[in-house]
Amino acid sequence: MKFHGTMTQNKDGLISIGGVDVETLKNEYGTPLYIYDEQFLRENIDMFSNNFKNQKLQGIVAYASKAFLTIAMAQLIQEEGLSIDVASGGELYTVYKAGFDMSRVYFHGNNKTEAELELAVKLNCGHIILDHEVEVEKLTKILEKTRKRMKVFLRVNPGIDVLTHDFIKTSKLDSKFGVTLESESTRKLIHEINQNPNFIFLGLHAHIGSQIHQTEPFFENVKTLLEVYKVLNDEGVHFESVNIGGGFGIYYTKEDEPILMPSFLSSLIDHVQKLSEKLDLNLKEVIIEPGRSLVSNAGSTLYTVGSIKETLAEKTYVFVDGGMSDNPRVALYDAKYESIIANHKDGELSHYTIAGKLCESGDILSKDALLASPKQDDLLLMSSTGAYTFSMSSNYNRMLRPAVVFVKDGKHKLVVQRQSLDDLISGDLNL
Ligand code: LLP
Repeated sequence: MKFHGTMTQNKDGLISIGGVDVETLKNEYGTPLYIYDEQFLRENIDMFSNNFKNQKLQGIVAYASKAFLTIAMAQLIQEEGLSIDVASGGELYTVYKAGFDMSRVYFHGNNKTEAELELAVKLNCGHIILDHEVEVEKLTKILEKTRKRMKVFLRVNPGIDVLTHDFIKTSKLDSKFGVTLESESTRKLIHEINQNPNFIFLGLHAHIGSQIHQTEPFFENVKTLLEVYKVLNDEGVHFESVNIGGGFGIYYTKEDEPILMPSFLSSLIDHVQKLSEKLDLNLKEVIIEPGRSLVSNAGSTLYTVGSIKETLAEKTYVFVDGGMSDNPRVALYDAKYESIIANHKDGELSHYTIAGKLCESGDILSKDALLASPKQDDLLLMSSTGAYTFSMSSNYNRMLRPAVVFVKDGKHKLVVQRQSLDDLISGDLNL
């Protein structure tokens, strides 16, 4: 397993993160446990801020909070000076309750309800990314009633195909997100939004997909958008901003060859600036929305091994005390992770299938894990689980949602409590 951030292993094989060993964490909080390496997380955020910079164009990094959001995470993002992207009323409310500067919030979604839009207006959400005509109508009505004006973007689909899992592509022509960029109705809609007195129309938004390892699609996205800006300019529509979404891929296993982010980020923003100048666009800012690439490598999940089971088909299972309820990504996208026995390094390395405890054959966390003779009560650490795990966790089989802990400089801080059995039934009513 590749060690990320502050992760270390002592001579007996005991793993520590942020200077705290996993046995201490297990004793304090139990397992399964989501562990975030706070120093590494903050360093990675700095890497984004320090490189997505240009002297003539403002670079804005809006963390895509769907990857991992809790009150503490929103506060950390605020402390680091980033903006934030939310994709539902629930995410919006969470960042509001965290005390986040609402003027730095970007509200997404392909079917925002009236209640969500009303909440966004009430909480003075900084930006709304309109998905299509119906949202334009809904928001117009709310703004007319409340006599407020709102900064908006329009989400477009630039039709850029990328190499990633089909379920996390967002820019295919049949995608449910945004409106097709090259279409007459979109052009009409852009002019309508531009003339709508309730809106301050900042620009277009296009997110092309997720876990992308190639740089070209991002440059192509910029080019496609800015060329449309040029045409619109000639028609009297002037944008000061462009939002190019997230999607930067990360290392999960040796199969991944992620983009070298520092140089990529600075060349991406330089590209936007130069093209804007060349096309005479007068662009003031460019926004990116990293989710996974900002948080995933900083998170790990700690499990306790329950037992080892050999099958007649020569597959050996390592059973852990979590599963698809705390990480559905393997079942959903055939995602791959690396893992390690975290409390010793005795014995030969060999291949195992890590399975969870849910009543489902597909409840597998790793199909081919290389582990040092795991046994009952060992600790197993799975790395790079910081994105889309806690945020996609469920109570399937009435599993309890694990706790989340931040570790740094030898200290640990609980940021989300483990669900209790009573939490689990708290919304249930008697017959
Ligand atoms: N901006 C928008 C508008 C998005 O829809 C997304 C992700 C992002 C930014 C952040 O993308 P990232 O940088 O994290 O790739 N559950 C899937 C990923 C779904 C991504 C959805 N949208 C997974 O676990 O792989």
